[in-house]
Amino acid sequence: MLFGITNNYIIPPSTEFRMLNYLQVTDAETSPDPNQFMPERWLNNPFTSTGHPLSMHLTVFGKGPRMCPGMNFSLAEMYPGLSGLFRLVDLKLHETDRSNVDMAGSFFVPLPKASSKGVCVIMK
Ligand code: HEM
Repeated sequence: MLFGITNNYIIPPSTEFRMLNYLQVTDAETSPDPNQFMPERWLNNPFTSTGHPLSMHLTVFGKGPRMCPGMNFSLAEMYPGLSGLFRLVDLKLHETDRSNVDMAGSFFVPLPKASSKGVCVIMK
């Protein structure tokens, strides 16, 4: 484990501190089998093995007073947008495999390998 959110760290005052979302949502202690696509893991307000709400670890929009003010707008757009897309359009991966999306480096946001063209799909 690169970074343990359950570990105890002493952070001196004035230390610049950042967290990578990627490491938070792929921490096996809070989300068992984190690399499996299991959207149902979020159903019914689940708790982690350490007794915290799992939602506490979903930090893609940040947390606290500086968190993203566009969160509700984005979710309101994404829920109908993505569910409509997956229901109405047949999507097939094209020349894309796991290696095109696995994290290979970080520039504050996680990045795939340099040669990755991202996720390519054919839509029907
Ligand atoms: C999927 C879509 C989006 C994601 C994942 C996202 C994520 C984030 C994150 C991680 C931050 C930093 C929070 C922090 O520092 O703790 C942020 C800040 C911010 N976001 Fe978003 N965002 C999204 C969409 C939007 C949209 C649609 C808007 C505006 C309509 C927006 C406006 C802002 C603004 C103004 C800030 C700066 C807030 C501040 O520093 O006080 N975001 N966003």
